[in-house]
Formats: sequence, C-alpha cells, structure tokens
Amino acid sequence: MQIRDMQTEVHVARHDPVGRISPNVYGQLSEHLGRCVYGGIWVGEDDGVPTENGIRMDTVELLRDLNTPVLRWPGGCFADDYHWTDGLGPREERPRRRNMWWTQGRDNLPEESNAFGTEEFMDFCEMLGTEPYLAVNVGAGDPDEAVDWAEYCNYDGDTEITRLRAKNGSEEPHNVTYWGVGNENWGCGGRFSPEQYAEQFRRYANYLRGFDRVMADESLELVACGHITDSWNRRFLEHLAECVSFGQGTVYNLLDHLSVHRYHHSGSDTEFTDDQYYRLLARARQVGEDIDRAAEALQLFAPGTDIGIIVDEWGVWHPEAVFDNGLEQENTVRDALSAASVLDDLNKRADVVSMANIAQTVNVLQCLVQTNEDSAWPTPTYRVFDLYKQHMGATALRTVVDTEVRAVKSIGNEFNADSEHEVPLVTASASEQDGQVYVTLSNLHRDDAREITVTVESDGVTIEDAQALFGGLPADLYSTETNAERFTPEEIEAENHGDGTVVVDAPAGSTLGLSVQV
Ligand code: AHR
Repeated sequence: MQIRDMQTEVHVARHDPVGRISPNVYGQLSEHLGRCVYGGIWVGEDDGVPTENGIRMDTVELLRDLNTPVLRWPGGCFADDYHWTDGLGPREERPRRRNMWWTQGRDNLPEESNAFGTEEFMDFCEMLGTEPYLAVNVGAGDPDEAVDWAEYCNYDGDTEITRLRAKNGSEEPHNVTYWGVGNENWGCGGRFSPEQYAEQFRRYANYLRGFDRVMADESLELVACGHITDSWNRRFLEHLAECVSFGQGTVYNLLDHLSVHRYHHSGSDTEFTDDQYYRLLARARQVGEDIDRAAEALQLFAPGTDIGIIVDEWGVWHPEAVFDNGLEQENTVRDALSAASVLDDLNKRADVVSMANIAQTVNVLQCLVQTNEDSAWPTPTYRVFDLYKQHMGATALRTVVDTEVRAVKSIGNEFNADSEHEVPLVTASASEQDGQVYVTLSNLHRDDAREITVTVESDGVTIEDAQALFGGLPADLYSTETNAERFTPEEIEAENHGDGTVVVDAPAGSTLGLSVQV
C-alpha cells in the first residue's frame, strides 16, 4: 500500500458530547415499489428460498444482523394512495388494485396484489426486532381512515376494529409509535402548498392525537412532511399556528418530528469521471445542510420544543433507476462511501436528528440487500451500516477533522447552483458508550492512501479493534450474487502513540472503524 505524505488529524472531544445517537438513525424505507416488498421481502408460498409466513428468511437474517432499528412502510409515494383495509384477511379475497406510482415485483405492471399488508409487515418487523413506522394516506385518504388504522394497530379495547385485528390473528395490539402524516405532500402526496398541508396536518394530527389520549399509554409520535427548501418549512410551521388556541400547550404539540428527503447522483451508477465521483460526495453533504436549515426553522417557530428532524428518505438515485425497472441500480463502493459520509453527518447532529431511513431496504435504489429468486446478498452500503451500528444509542462526541479538501463546482442544488463546494477528503464521527470510544472515518480520496492521526481526549487509550472496508477496491466495483464477500471488512494495523493518539493508514476510498477503550 502506498501512503503519501498527507497528514490528516481527527480530534475527538470527549468533553463536548453532542447528544445520544438515536438508534433510529440507522433505519430504512420499505415501499411497495419494484422488488422491494414483492420479491425482496415477501415471496408468498410459491418460493425458491426458505420462508416463514411467506417472508424470505435470507433477507430477514441479513437485516437482523444489522440490528435494523426502524422500518418505514408502505411508502413513499405509494402511502398516499394506499388503503390499509385492502391488505387484510384471506389473501385470495384481497382486492387487486392499481399502483399508480410503481410497478411491482419483476412484472412491469402497475398493480398491487395486497398480498403483503399490515399483519405481514408487523410479522416482518417482529422477525427483525424492528420498530414499525407507518405513513398514513393524506393525499387520497381521510383522517378517519388514518385513525382507524391507529385503532387497529394500537388499541387494546373491544371494538369492531380490534375484533377484526383478532380475527386476523393478532389479539394483542402492535403498538406502533411512529406515524407519518402523509409522504412528500408537496409532491406525489397531494401537491399541497405549505399552507394547505399545514391545514391537513392539523386536521389529521388532531384526530390521531385525540385518539392517542384514550389509548393505553399516549405513545404516538407524529411526523410532518417537510421539504429541503427553507421557505417551504417556514411557511408550513408559520401557518400551522394560525388557529385559535385549543387544549393544553401550543399547536406545535401536535408535531413530534419534521421530515426531509434528499437523493443525490452524479454520472451513472457504474461509470463516472473523477469530477463526478467527487460531485456525488459533495451532494451527499447536502443531507447535513438540509438538517441544519430545518433545525433553524424549528428554532424560529417552535423554540423550546423537542421536535426532532427525520431524514426518512435519503440515498443515491442514479439515472439507471427508473419506473420501468422498479428503480433498480447497481450499488458501488462510491455509493457506500457517500453513505458513510451521510452517516457521519447524521451522527454529528445527534442533538437534533431523531431518525433517518435510507431508501430503500431491498433491491430498490441504494438498497442494503439485493436478492434474486434463490439468494440474498449484502451491498457495499450494507457493509457501511454494519460497521457503523456500534454508534447506535451511544453519545456522539464533537469531532473535528483537519484535512485537505477537494473543490467541486456547481453541485446544482436549489440554493447555490453555481457555487464552488469543498469536499473534505476525510470524514469522521465518534461516539462513546460504556467506556468505549468508537470512531468511524473515511478516506474519500479516490486514488491516494493517507495516514490519519486520531486523538481521543484521554490520558491514554487501549486499542480494541481497527477495521477497514473497501481497501484496494475500485470505486466503481458493484455487488453481485457472486462477489459480495469482496466487500467484507479487514483488520488493519493501528499504532498507539500514547496520550490518546492512534495512527492508522487509510487506503484510498476506504471506510474505517476504530474502537478504543478510554
Ligand atoms: O423512494 C422512491 C420515491 O422517492 C418515494 O416513493 C418518494 O417518496 C420519493 O420521491
């Protein structure tokens, strides 16, 4: 390995904790889209892989190993045209409907069989030990339908709806905490203006919250759909308060989380120039900027509240992923490095970020797992999630990186299309839990390895583990059924220089996990 004489320093400030990293930051989105649910998760009875209740166990085992904390479902755009009662009861009696947004499975047909519904989703979540996060239908539904779904999932009394649940095999409630009030309601979820959505949100949240009070433990957490533009969020938050006061507290009590979505690409999935390689990494940094803007808007309109920010769709969306192929694309090392950089940015904002969901879990967009008819395998991005899972629930520590930057022109966002951006060539985040400090860092340089000096504020540390992903692999290498083992982590040397200083050699285009005892 060639190490050029480029010094990078990472300082981990243990005296400056940022906040607890919600485990939910490592969540995913599973939509009725292409082969995510149908084929990737659900194969029914006629299957070529081991299943339980129609759910493929190879996918379950991979996601279980990630400690997947939360799954958002049923969409995405699909959520605002989904009627939850369609997905209940004997499968052969469930209605076959249009799916106006996406084709399903390998068939290029925009139709929804409803074979996978609420009970199947809850079953899947239980197999994974994951929290369900449901998005209700705002665009084409009504508040009654949404509250009925909450009653079905969470009420433990004796009503027509809870009897229906018992008839479907679930005597006990599912206790779903997270409820999204629609999805992208500025776009596919109804094309509302911020003011119109504020009215819709108030109406839906009024009834969901109202019913929450009569349920056992008032546990619903409601998510409003925000936008990556500042003005949308500000207009929404301002208009939300334009009602007379009612009940206890302010209208902002209706809101527990505000969500934003961010996708990025540059070049194609497997072919990209150096400029495009770095431009993708520059674009990935927009997730952090989106969070900062949303946090400022919340600070302005709802100061003193603890409304969290959720990035409930994020990831790489290449031009190859289109409607006709169910948004499938190849998953490369470059994509995985961009995920590492996003996860570092999420960790660093642990004080305001309450959840994030990469899009999507299986086969679609920047998926973690890919499947064919008889096997399932992890993508390079899966390996990053696996390496980062040690941060879940730990306390994020302020981390300062002193490194070179690469200038990238015109990343083409809506705020500064012509501006020049800087991509730090090393990204890092750190957390502490039970006397152990965990540092993740990536050398984003496409060609050059580098020596990185990590200083953890401490009289001294004991190195427990140092691993690297992707060392020596080209940035455009993508996962297939037969090569998935090439992306597994390797142990690397880490030198303990005393006084909390550890030196590691990071190969070009690699992601490292360094664990030390303090
Ligand atoms: O993840 C694919 C789609 O992207 C989702 O359905 C939608 O919410 C977003 O625009």
